[in-house]
Amino acid sequence: MTDNDHPIGIFDSGVGGLSVLREIRSLMPNENIIYFGDQGHVPYGPRPMRQIQDFSEGITRFLLKQHSKIIVVACNTASAAALKHLRETFLDVQFVGMEPAVKPAAEKTQTGKVGVLATPATFQGALYASVVERFANGVELFQNTCSGLVQQIEMGNLNGDETRRILEDALHPMLEKNIDTVVLGCTHYPFVIPLIERIAGEKVRVIDPAPAVARQVKRLVEAGGMANQNGQDGKIRFITSGEADSAKSILRVLLEIDGEVEAITWKNDREIQ
Ligand code: DGL
Repeated sequence: MTDNDHPIGIFDSGVGGLSVLREIRSLMPNENIIYFGDQGHVPYGPRPMRQIQDFSEGITRFLLKQHSKIIVVACNTASAAALKHLRETFLDVQFVGMEPAVKPAAEKTQTGKVGVLATPATFQGALYASVVERFANGVELFQNTCSGLVQQIEMGNLNGDETRRILEDALHPMLEKNIDTVVLGCTHYPFVIPLIERIAGEKVRVIDPAPAVARQVKRLVEAGGMANQNGQDGKIRFITSGEADSAKSILRVLLEIDGEVEAITWKNDREIQ
């Protein structure tokens, strides 16, 4: 295996990062990918920063052992809590993280009112505060953590009553304030865009940062001379720290992929077997 055949490593607290994987896959079909969903610990959102850093470090070590040539932190919560820590710990590794797309939202909004859906840890992180300070000039932001929505999506409930209730409770007050843009600050949420659009109506723009993240990964892989030139479709390995069979069925629901899923276990909160 040459370096260029080495995989792109992607991780999330669960299946949310698959919304980023699908954009990377469509942009770079030749690339091998290894995806790690830490379903044994999901949700990360309510967890302390230090614990999310420990999980992220352990997953990064695992992905590097699988020869990952770049690491995509396809998780806003882990990016907010751990991206700086990861870059300081793995000095020679390239990381691409997520940040709530406040900048494009602020550029596009006409009403000057924007909704942001993310997890508590994302909203508490310095990354979100800095994005707001740099880009939200003059725009009014309305935030909501959509408590319970990640778990619904982890169970494949993209249209159920509970999923709809959570989104209506989050969106209705924002719509009353006349928002015209919604930023998806959690990688799980693109999987419920159709429901969000049905609730918010066609006048409200929904911004999913995954395509922009995929373009950034492509730029870095090409700039680093790491692109896989072998011309065949890349292989995707799906790994979960949860239950392989349920991960397999969620993969079918979310990506319509009938892929094998490998289950691994944590030795402790910092190391993967
Ligand atoms: N999908 C992740 C994000 O983008 C994390 C959600 C969670 O585990 O709470 O924040």
